Amino acid sequence: MSEAQSLKAATAEEAEQLRIKYLSKKGILNDLMSEFRNVPGEMKKEVGMRINELKTMLNDRINELKDSVQSQQQAGDDLDLTRTPYPVRLGTRHPLTIVRNEIVDIFSRLGFVLAEGPEVEDDWHVYSSMNFADDHPARDMQDTFFVEAHPDIILRSHTSSVQARVMETQKPPIRVICPGRVYRNEAISARAHCFFHQVEGLYIDKNVSFTDLKQVLLLFAQEMFGPDTKIRLRPSYFPFTEPSAEMDISCHLCGGTGCSFCKHTGWVEILGCGMVDPAVLEANGIDAQEYTGYAFGMGIERITNLKYQVKDLRMFSENDTRFLDEFTAAN
Ligand code: DAH
Repeated sequence: MSEAQSLKAATAEEAEQLRIKYLSKKGILNDLMSEFRNVPGEMKKEVGMRINELKTMLNDRINELKDSVQSQQQAGDDLDLTRTPYPVRLGTRHPLTIVRNEIVDIFSRLGFVLAEGPEVEDDWHVYSSMNFADDHPARDMQDTFFVEAHPDIILRSHTSSVQARVMETQKPPIRVICPGRVYRNEAISARAHCFFHQVEGLYIDKNVSFTDLKQVLLLFAQEMFGPDTKIRLRPSYFPFTEPSAEMDISCHLCGGTGCSFCKHTGWVEILGCGMVDPAVLEANGIDAQEYTGYAFGMGIERITNLKYQVKDLRMFSENDTRFLDEFTAAN
């Protein structure tokens, strides 16, 4: 009986051998049956019961072994070691990364090289070296995040700080494109966020003129928004450029005829720019008699909104995969 319980089989073949050995016509059990006639009458009942019990036990055990080797074999058949983990879900690039890369790409083709600076900055690089007067409103607590206990250490509120970082370490000619995250103390809404992204451009050399700036920006606008895109520059003010301008592009949704997107003006604003103020060059150790330069700065969210009509800025930082999945094709 205990022998029946401890029977083992690793394959279907072995289980079948056991069946033949114990339960077939020429098997051990049948041998026992044929001995049965020699059992004395008074013991027949007892021995018969034991033989039946043994038969059931062997039957059960061998069937059990057959089932278990069969299911093991099935599991083995399904095991495909060449198969990749499944399903493989490929992520998508974030829309802001897609647009950032596109902007950097366009300027790289024009000879601009990538430069980056820290997000935690000091007042000098963000404001003083960029010609912000001590009482300029942008230094106000309303705009800037201060790092606690260090009134001089702040989160940069624009990527113009990278201009200063580059000027203090490189000699002209300088031609850099500087993407990065910036922070402002704003209430979060569909149209404003406490952090967003900018790309700064800076070109310093001998005889750099406003015409060069305009031509490069026209080329950028046409690469980014299509060859029929027109640009216009409106006079503006920034502490670090003189003269300064804001640039509009012809509305790429209506082609400039006027629609609700461009508030029926035919134009949408995309960036700020200007000639680097000589005071900025001097503050950063560059001889303003010898060199001139231009600079520009744009918001990546703004450009992305124009390209993809994202209505709510908060979508960019919520990481809702239904939103992100929409950009799979643009990857
Ligand atoms: N720093 C400006 C801002 O955050 C953007 C800007 C405007 C950058 C004009 C420039 C520039 O380099 O020339 O609003």
